[in-house]
Amino acid sequence: MKFIVDFANLDQIKELYAYYPVDGVTTNPSILAKEGKNPYEVLKGIREFIGVNAELHVQVISLDAEGMMQEAHRIQKELGANTYVKVPVTKEGLKAMKTLAAEGANITATAIYTQMQAYLAGKAGAHYAAPYVNRIDNLGADGVKVAKEIHDIFKKNDLKTEVLAASFKNSQQVLELAKYGVGAATISPDVIEGLIKLDSVTCAVAAFTKDFEGLCGKGKSMLDC
Ligand code: E4P
Repeated sequence: MKFIVDFANLDQIKELYAYYPVDGVTTNPSILAKEGKNPYEVLKGIREFIGVNAELHVQVISLDAEGMMQEAHRIQKELGANTYVKVPVTKEGLKAMKTLAAEGANITATAIYTQMQAYLAGKAGAHYAAPYVNRIDNLGADGVKVAKEIHDIFKKNDLKTEVLAASFKNSQQVLELAKYGVGAATISPDVIEGLIKLDSVTCAVAAFTKDFEGLCGKGKSMLDC
């Protein structure tokens, strides 16, 4: 499962890249709005930092297929080949996806709440389909189950599309999908920071330090003992 950051603040992205095994960056219009700057300025900064080969996902705003395609072309021109154009799975979105796929564009189908949306996006040529796990949970359904079923639909129908699970609110949701082997998960910084935040781990490391310092002296390590 690829591990992707769902955020657009460059300082925070740099911090996460320094510590975690990150495979790329996803954004959406709400995430870009938080930066309060021109979207292309923000996205070009991210592209420069992550490099030309890393995945960067950027969403279109238009509601009609023609507008979506025009935006997709500008997104690709400004941000390079490894940019995935995020297209919401509406009727117009499916029309845009079919044309963009024929052009060879990288497409991430987004705003997915149902298995049928994902199936149709896969058939239309999307590389990724992004079910919104926590938003589905908030509807009283089971977001993890929906994401797993979408993964199964792709495999059973010989579609090359991968799940890019999105909208996580806790570690358990991420873990369940890693165990299932879905293609990718995109996760916000606050949820990423919670993935390994465990008092037991902190206590275990503190006990090792105390024992070692008892043996070799305060502040000593395997470097200078
Ligand atoms: C990804 O495609 C979505 O835009 C994003 O993960 C939604 O996350 P949220 O439900 O936390 O806003």
